[in-house]
Amino acid sequence: MRLTYSPASPFVRRVRAAAIELGLVDQLRLERVQVAPGRENRAYAESINPLRKIPALVLDDGQTLVESAVICQFLDELAGGGKIIPAAGPDRWRVLSQQAIAQGMAEAMVSVRYETALRPELLRWPLWIADQQDRFWSGLAWFERQVERTLSTAGSRTELNVDVSGLALACCLGYVDFRFAEMDWRARAPRVSAWYRTIASRPSLAETDPRVAT
Ligand code: BEZ
Repeated sequence: MRLTYSPASPFVRRVRAAAIELGLVDQLRLERVQVAPGRENRAYAESINPLRKIPALVLDDGQTLVESAVICQFLDELAGGGKIIPAAGPDRWRVLSQQAIAQGMAEAMVSVRYETALRPELLRWPLWIADQQDRFWSGLAWFERQVERTLSTAGSRTELNVDVSGLALACCLGYVDFRFAEMDWRARAPRVSAWYRTIASRPSLAETDPRVAT
């Protein structure tokens, strides 16, 4: 299977971390692609993902899966199911919903990165940037308020004692540390911060840290 990637992407990182957790990483061949706004990459749009987003997973039979949550679900099923996504019931929908919140937080911060690193300074819109940052802060506060229910490994009801929503949030926080260290999210979320210290030391996350990953 081929996985399109960039080492900085928190969405790709979640898929790579999931593959490591599930023992599938040796089946992935990484294929680096450029998809930043302004770098058109028509060939990628035409052959892999018309939205020009990463990650995409090209299966050995040629079928292409797009979007990190879809790919994580596919990998979980490939590994037997129920490993990082609860197989059924309320926990399944809780974890998938939490994953969507963590993913939205990361999308907001990637948008801020593009806005501040790529858009010419005179064209930037501070209110829009503040609104995107607020989505991150609001999501972080949501996890902080209910950390026992959302992030406790004891409650994750998955075989590997870690679930895809924890991986998604850890990848989002790692991205903020990588691109926006000055935001100091730990000061506003001490309970998430304590949880993050533990989860970040899992090999799946340590090996894919954007500060060291290639
Ligand atoms: C970044 O360089 O920050 C980045 C690259 C790819 C996807 C998302 C973010």
